[in-house]
Amino acid sequence: MKEISLRVNGQQHRLQIDDPATPLLYVLRNQLELNGPKYGCGLEQCGSCMVLLEGKAIPTCRIPVSAVADKNIVTLEGLVDEDTLHPVQQAFIEHQAAQCGYCLNGMVITAVALLEENNHPDDTAIREGMERVLCRCSIQPRVMRAIRSAAQNMNP
Ligand code: FES
Ligand code: FES
Repeated sequence: MKEISLRVNGQQHRLQIDDPATPLLYVLRNQLELNGPKYGCGLEQCGSCMVLLEGKAIPTCRIPVSAVADKNIVTLEGLVDEDTLHPVQQAFIEHQAAQCGYCLNGMVITAVALLEENNHPDDTAIREGMERVLCRCSIQPRVMRAIRSAAQNMNP
């Protein structure tokens, strides 16, 4: 058993972890009950387990929890400011950019990271920025509309 300090959504947690190699995703979901990040492939391929790590979108299904001690982690839950959704979350709702929901966490987290880096991405930049997240339901055109709209609302 090892004590690991995790900083998630602005809160510091001291956790007892059996194995420091446990993937961050399992700790987020099972110990912190943050179920925004989803288990998809488990192979860092699909993007459904994304969080923001120091502002970058990264998959959490293989990264050992010990590797992210004391780094800033933000999950889908942490994007909400009190009762106000993040503009990207709001835009995904307005543009109905979700179907089965499998990819939704990764889409939103990756879009937030993209818009932090690039205020006004063109369609090519959006496609390139989002290509790490797989969607099996062909929701991509609505995701494109949602991201364009969020970018406009965040940076008129
Ligand atoms: S579950 Fe992590 S990338 Fe697929
Ligand atoms: S909405 Fe189902 S995988 Fe994307």
